[in-house]
Amino acid sequence: MEATIVLDETKHYPVLLNEIISIITPQYGGTFIDCTFGQGGYTKEILKHKECKVIAIDRDIVSKKKADQISEKYQNRFLFKNQKFSHLENLKLKNENIRGVIFDLGYSYTQIKDPKKGLSFNFNGDLNMQMGINDFSAKEVVNKLDVKELENIFKFFGEEKEAKKIAISIGKEREKKEINTKTLVELIEKKKRKKNFKTHSATKVFQALRIFVNKEITELILGLIAGARVLKKDGILAVVTFHSLEDKIVKYFFKSLSENKSISRYVPEVSQPETLFKMIEKKPQKPSSKELKENTPSRSAKLRYVVKKKNFYKFETDIFEKFRYLIEIENFGNKLWKNFG
Ligand SMILES: C[S@@+](CC[C@H](N)C(=O)[O-])C[C@H]1O[C@@H](n2cnc3c(N)ncnc32)[C@H](O)[C@@H]1O
Repeated sequence: MEATIVLDETKHYPVLLNEIISIITPQYGGTFIDCTFGQGGYTKEILKHKECKVIAIDRDIVSKKKADQISEKYQNRFLFKNQKFSHLENLKLKNENIRGVIFDLGYSYTQIKDPKKGLSFNFNGDLNMQMGINDFSAKEVVNKLDVKELENIFKFFGEEKEAKKIAISIGKEREKKEINTKTLVELIEKKKRKKNFKTHSATKVFQALRIFVNKEITELILGLIAGARVLKKDGILAVVTFHSLEDKIVKYFFKSLSENKSISRYVPEVSQPETLFKMIEKKPQKPSSKELKENTPSRSAKLRYVVKKKNFYKFETDIFEKFRYLIEIENFGNKLWKNFG
């Protein structure tokens, strides 16, 4: 008989930790940037190796508490910055031997369980969803944006089939009263024709709102570019994603910068510019069955990584053009900026 694993409900379990560590090889020393520090799961493991330094980033100020504890233990080898990873290049990194840049996207368990963050449909209260350093909340999005804009947010960021119906019913409801978490969940449940017993009816709309409020698409693209720039030759860029949109972006970024565009066989001997990355594994790594048993939220995690081939700082990418349609949707939020106008 298998032993029952007791999961501590208050703790965040770092996803794919062993896989990350075996890819970045901290036993050989160097500086690592943990772009999504969270509860410090990856950082702590890296710092166990004496020759390593970690620069950790998190937009959520709540993470600072954990960072302060780590600072006490590893004074000279650890630095925490409360900022967004899109601003990674603002850190003075020129003289650092950056051997790895890691992203573990999404939210920590501790954030989901924090009712003030309003990330979950299981808590009643105001819609918030701000991870930290934001310009507006989900409450403003749902109560102020045009119905058509809401439809696009739900459709493209949540792949919600009933996006239009849900957006229209939000438009009607908010004429009567301001929409909070409870009303939003009820509206969605009424509009969902087919019930899925595995996932909650509101999952997709809530995912869409979280992506929108935190500008996650723009953040990811800018973060990947900055990470790729600061890495030294042979350094690793590793990303753990949790939904298909994130994975699509990471996959495209890695693939497009790892392979030469195919050339016509009628044009021989054309020298190809060297690519930025080397891709060791085409397929993403996924949690083992052991990890899935211990930590169910890891089920949608995918880990992709590439190795930087040379010390290029500047490089060309068409990633903005490729995902412009998503960035334009995120820009609907500009009119909600606190200091707009
Ligand atoms: C899944 S958790 C990371 C957990 C971490 N690997 C651990 O083991 O504790 C993701 C973290 O990234 C942070 N985050 C998400 N987007 C960010 C961004 N654009 N800039 C900085 N931090 C971000 C969130 O606040 C959250 O704490």
